[in-house]
Amino acid sequence: MNDFDSDLAAGLLKKEGHEIVKDEESADVILFNTCSVRQHAEDRVFGQLAELKAEKKKRPDLVIGVMGCMVENYKTMFFSDFPHIDLLIGTRSIPELPKAIETVRTERRQVMELAKAGFGYDFYEMPRMEGKFHAYLPIMTGCDKVCSFCIVPYVRGREISRPLREVLDEVRRLADSGVKHVTLLGQNVNSYASKDGGSVGDAALPSLRAGAMASKENHGKFADLLRACGKVPGIEKIGFTTSHPQDAYEELFQAIRDEEKISRRFHLPLQSGSNRILERMKRNHTLAEYQRKIDRMRELIPDIAVTTDIIVGFPGETEKDYKETEKALADIQFDGAFIFKYSSRPHTAAAQWKDDTPMPEKNRRNNELLNLQKEITRKKNQAWAGRTVKVMVEDMSKKSREEVLARTWQEKKVVFKGDGSLIGSIVHVKLQQVFDETYRAEVIPS
Ligand code: 5AD
Ligand code: SF4
Repeated sequence: MNDFDSDLAAGLLKKEGHEIVKDEESADVILFNTCSVRQHAEDRVFGQLAELKAEKKKRPDLVIGVMGCMVENYKTMFFSDFPHIDLLIGTRSIPELPKAIETVRTERRQVMELAKAGFGYDFYEMPRMEGKFHAYLPIMTGCDKVCSFCIVPYVRGREISRPLREVLDEVRRLADSGVKHVTLLGQNVNSYASKDGGSVGDAALPSLRAGAMASKENHGKFADLLRACGKVPGIEKIGFTTSHPQDAYEELFQAIRDEEKISRRFHLPLQSGSNRILERMKRNHTLAEYQRKIDRMRELIPDIAVTTDIIVGFPGETEKDYKETEKALADIQFDGAFIFKYSSRPHTAAAQWKDDTPMPEKNRRNNELLNLQKEITRKKNQAWAGRTVKVMVEDMSKKSREEVLARTWQEKKVVFKGDGSLIGSIVHVKLQQVFDETYRAEVIPS
């Protein structure tokens, strides 16, 4: 989502005649696109903003701006703590960016644009990037779940979905401009709930507050959207991220099984293997319910790769709870897992509880799970060696000018001999050895 927002901002600025430069020294405007999900990401932004103070003294005309979740989180605090900041752009106000920069430059005053109702922009306003084969496509934004650790609902707002017809029109336009691979985006993408044909305003969800299971009537919606995207000529691969277990259901698994263009990686955050902690996290499911969904998914789609997110050191997490998470990772055998150390976030329910796991202990749990998962990932990847698979070529290899980097439908990285003309195309390869989660492969002539 942040990548998409950065691209959107860059595209809008280019359309206004600005140029994107690589280094700060030659920039007239420096923008930070920020994330509030964990404290660490915020600390880095604060550090870098502080460093720019001297630069702003030297060059008073320099425009410094912050966009994204931190703007919604801290609002005017930025202006009081960092008076050298000129510009604040909230998560649903990116289209205001060019005008806001203009205002700062002509009127020399601070400008702040906070979240608005709705999506913030229409697809037709989005700048097109020429010659791209991959595009991100936000189909919903915000989140109506209230996981007790998570700041997203406060900084990204309430859940809102784009009407199916608008999404499909946009997918067709992208395909016409040469895009072959789309990644559908949303904080909670699988609770997508368009009312077809309505305006963006009409598509606002009925409230799905804590405790309410996603209503059955919405269950087909995301699956329908995936199937419809698969029918758009020119589109070869469809990914989506990120999902909540509550909205991972049979119809969705069936759509993935039936439509071979849909990516075979399902990222489904588990967060904890302890039912006690899952309950305190307000995830609305038990470990057994989660496992049943994974079993069913693997039954229907045997080549699916499942990845997850885990938080260690959630308030009240005991050694016993932690061991249950460790066991869940060993039992479920994910293809990959992101492990995060809990950090308390403002506005969230968990912020009222004591952050009671000391940092060295969080580090230990984090490292142990990383090591365990690394071994599981290695074994899982090894099991694919020798198989012939379809890949999409994404780029030149970073290490060799004679090799290209591609991804399988499980989103595993593959390198093999080839030149730039292959980028964006689909190739069949035989996977050989895997090092560091990247396969070497040999092209199978078609
Ligand atoms: N502390 C640590 N990790 C968090 N995440 C979300 N909020 C927090 C927090 N307060 C993790 C979750 C989520 C991922 C995107 O970030 O695992 O799935
Ligand atoms: Fe945060 Fe939970 Fe919503 Fe995901 S589902 S964005 S973790 S509140």
